[in-house]
Amino acid sequence: MNTNILWHRAIVDRQSRERQSGHRSFILWFTGLSGSGKSTLAHRVEEILHQRGCRTYVFDGDNVRHGLCADLGFADKDRAENIRRIGEMGKLFVDSGCIALTAFISPFRADRNKVRALLEPGDFIEIYCQASLDVCEQRDVKGLYQKARLGKIAEFTGISSPYEEPESPEMLVMTGEQDVDTCAGQIIEYLEQTGKIR
Ligand code: ADX
Repeated sequence: MNTNILWHRAIVDRQSRERQSGHRSFILWFTGLSGSGKSTLAHRVEEILHQRGCRTYVFDGDNVRHGLCADLGFADKDRAENIRRIGEMGKLFVDSGCIALTAFISPFRADRNKVRALLEPGDFIEIYCQASLDVCEQRDVKGLYQKARLGKIAEFTGISSPYEEPESPEMLVMTGEQDVDTCAGQIIEYLEQTGKIR
C-alpha cells in the first residue's frame, strides 16, 4: 500500500454509534451452496431485527454482482476478491454501528477465515446454511444447476467447483430440511443468548 496514505481517525467512534443504534454491531455471515436458502434466511432475519428497532443491511451475492463486484466472475481468484470486498465492506458497516448480513456462497474456507481475521473477535458470526447438493439441485430455483449439468455454466459450485464446509461455524442451520422461520428463530435465539441483542 502507498506509504503516503494515512488513516484518519473519526471523532465519532464505533462505541458511540452503537450506543445511538441501541445495540451491538456485527456481521452475520451466511454461507452455503447456491439454493441453500442463504438469501431468504438473511432477509427474514433482517426483517425480525428491523422490527425490533435494529439497524441492519443485507448484502446479497446476486445483487452485489450487479454493481460493486460486476467486474468479477466465478474463477477461484474472482470469488476470493468478491469475498475480500464484502469483508472490507462488512467491516465498515460494523464500524458504522450497523448489523450487516451477508449472503454469499463464499465456498473457500481460507477466504471466509480472512474476513474473520479482519474483524474483532466476536464480530464475525459464521452461519452455515446446510442443505445437501441433492436438495439444492431439486429446488433449482434459478435453473442454474440444470445448466451446469449440461456444461453450459463452468465452475459451478457443487458441480464443477468445490464448496468447503465450515469447520467450526458459530451456527449451523438445517436450511435443507427446516423452514425459514424455524432457522431464523434459532439465529435470533443465539443472538439473545450471546448478548448480541436484547
Ligand atoms: S461466491 O462464490 O463468490 O461467494 P456469490 O454468492 O457471489 O458466489 O454468487 C453466487 C450466485 O451467482 C449463485 O447463487 C448463482 O445464482 C450465481 N452463479 C452464476 N454462476 C455461478 C457459478 N459458476 N457458481 C456459483 N454460482 C453462480
